[in-house]
Amino acid sequence: MKKLTLSLSFALLAIVSFAQSPYKNASLSDEARIADLLSRMTVEEKVGQLNQVNGGVLTGPSVANDPGAQGKIQLLKDGMVGSFLNVVGTEQTLATQKIAVEQTRLGIPLLFAFDVIHGYKTVFPIPLAEAASWDLDAAEKSASIAAKEASSAGLHWTFAPMMDMSREPRWGRVMEGSGEDPYLQGKFAAARVKGFQGNFDENHVLATIKHFAAYGAVEAGREYNTVDVSRYALWNYYLPSYKAAVDAGAATVMNSFNFVDGVPASGNDYLVNKVLRDKWGFDGMVVSDWASFGEMMNHGYSKDAEQAAIQAIMAGSDMDMEAGVTRTTLVNSVKEGKVPMAVLDEAVSRVLALKFKLGLFDNPYKYHDAAKEKATLMADAHLAEARKAAGNTMTLLKNSDGVLPLNSPKSILVLGHLAESQDDVLDFWKGQGEHKYTVTILEGLKAKYPKAKLTFIRSVSREGDFDASSVKEMKKAAKKADVIIATIGLFGDLAGEARSLSDVSPSDGQMEMLANAKATGKTVVILVQAGRPMIMTDVVKDFNTVLYTWIGGTQHGHGVADVLSGDVNPSAKTVMSFPVAMGQIPVYYNHYNGSRPHIDGNEGPAHFWVSRYRDIPNEPLYPFGYGLSYSTYEYSDLKISKSSINQNESVTVSVNIKNTSDVDGTEIVQLYIRDLVAQPVRPVKELKDFARVEIAAGQSKTVTFELPATKLSFFDQDGNVLLQKGAFKVFVGTNSRDVLEGDLELR
Ligand code: NOJ
Repeated sequence: MKKLTLSLSFALLAIVSFAQSPYKNASLSDEARIADLLSRMTVEEKVGQLNQVNGGVLTGPSVANDPGAQGKIQLLKDGMVGSFLNVVGTEQTLATQKIAVEQTRLGIPLLFAFDVIHGYKTVFPIPLAEAASWDLDAAEKSASIAAKEASSAGLHWTFAPMMDMSREPRWGRVMEGSGEDPYLQGKFAAARVKGFQGNFDENHVLATIKHFAAYGAVEAGREYNTVDVSRYALWNYYLPSYKAAVDAGAATVMNSFNFVDGVPASGNDYLVNKVLRDKWGFDGMVVSDWASFGEMMNHGYSKDAEQAAIQAIMAGSDMDMEAGVTRTTLVNSVKEGKVPMAVLDEAVSRVLALKFKLGLFDNPYKYHDAAKEKATLMADAHLAEARKAAGNTMTLLKNSDGVLPLNSPKSILVLGHLAESQDDVLDFWKGQGEHKYTVTILEGLKAKYPKAKLTFIRSVSREGDFDASSVKEMKKAAKKADVIIATIGLFGDLAGEARSLSDVSPSDGQMEMLANAKATGKTVVILVQAGRPMIMTDVVKDFNTVLYTWIGGTQHGHGVADVLSGDVNPSAKTVMSFPVAMGQIPVYYNHYNGSRPHIDGNEGPAHFWVSRYRDIPNEPLYPFGYGLSYSTYEYSDLKISKSSINQNESVTVSVNIKNTSDVDGTEIVQLYIRDLVAQPVRPVKELKDFARVEIAAGQSKTVTFELPATKLSFFDQDGNVLLQKGAFKVFVGTNSRDVLEGDLELR
């Protein structure tokens, strides 16, 4: 009887509190709960929801009006914080969430965000390398593991995937994206969004489409620099990948730092309201990049903080990350009628909608379970996936003596700082990855070849300086070695934000080390480690075996050893062209023909007044889509099912591929088109499809693609789809340069 009375009184209490606060009633729709909550919020509390503050390490410059740690807690208690970034781990996030839920007037839970770019604690290969695997399932898987680990540590939201198409190896952030092709970038964006978000439960995190828009076009590859692209380029090269991620259901979008058409992205009504929301139907939340609302003043677009905050919210951007301009000025602007209450309510609703979607109002602590965190981080299954991923991303640039794979070497001489470095297999965006848990190349080799004698000589420092005194020792050790493995590249922390470089060549010291290694007369296998394509011209001129290992993450060393030994047959293909020289940048496969095109090798008077360099070729050293394998493949019999189609039809394009080696392999088959005459003009090649195909040694396979007429379309400068009749080329090949070609007419 006592029990019944108790539960009755609980029920009564619940009814009373639901009656008072429908936003707490889980049986109502999210819309109804949001409407109710909005009706209870003061203008200050509403503006507070649009305020995101940093609670941990700085991932941007500290801002002038930073309230400090205590000030932030006070702001939180006053209902003036909607989200924290960089607060991680169950302990910290739980303690902070408790303040929001238990010590604020309305108990609105926080969103915790962090840059989980390619792993949280188990770090996967950098996204650029992952894209080189052309393996969408693997990308989805790595994002889902990253999400699982991050959410177990109290996080709700990652600022990834980045899908800024870029042709700029000088830009340190190309490591975060998927290279120079919009179609491939979009495919990876969608796969990662799905992996991160899953079904929005407590094993996943919200994804962020960033940086909207066109940030990958920063001039001269210099971070935070100007972007100035035409609308036509915007629609055809830059926007498609963001659109693909919107279609995949990404919950949030981040403004970019740059302007588009002279209007900073954070305050760009065309980009955010017109394109993202109206045209694409995105109904999620838009967050600024770090302080980007306030930085509209640096652009010279806003005269003060008040104007910046108004411009941002009126353009459709919602949450102010770290600038504090919204927090300090928007209340007044709304009260003075400079920003309509309806606009504020909409922005706040979008923040609240995410919190309801994740179920935080009903169970605010569900992401904060320390036991789960412990069991999840760096679980064996995650490490196994990371190792697999590392092997699948390493790109074999040259193997002309067939030295690789290295079958049971007895003695190996290993050179270069990178071989022993735990620091450099992780980059700036390493999440919570710790160097001490990483596998170095030396460790990977030791584990792979337990019987081999391994000799390591550092020879070059982390900074790339050569130690001349190592030569004697090198010569001696080389005499006893079957092979030399020499590591060159850039140190790990040079990949990431604010890490632009004017020169992406190997250092003189590294080249000196290689020259000395060569002088020993022993076979040299070169491993290159970097988060971007480097200038490999001099290296491949003098050496026959080059494996580009990118930055492989926690399991880097095992991944390298798996490929060197042949346990993994390399299949990755670069998604950025490798420039011949610095002066060739930007060089990319999907360029236009121009008025006076030139084909390398054509010499003589007829080839003088043409678009060419006098000192280097036009073509890159390695084109987009290039990468070798221990298998070799022969392409033949390109067939296009019809020579002419109308706008509603498709053709099938098939090709025969023979594995001419005695090793089973996986080939990445690529389909490109060219629209020969169009208004406006189209690029010389555009990727339209691809397939990863396993082909056993000595076997042939017919690979078939469906090519619908719609894939022949493109955008005009206003984003309208154009499908123009006329002649097309269809190409299928092993990379963007080496292709078979056929003809197709659209009538
Ligand atoms: C600035 C970077 O541009 C962005 O990508 C990142 O998510 C934020 N900082 C937060 O760290």
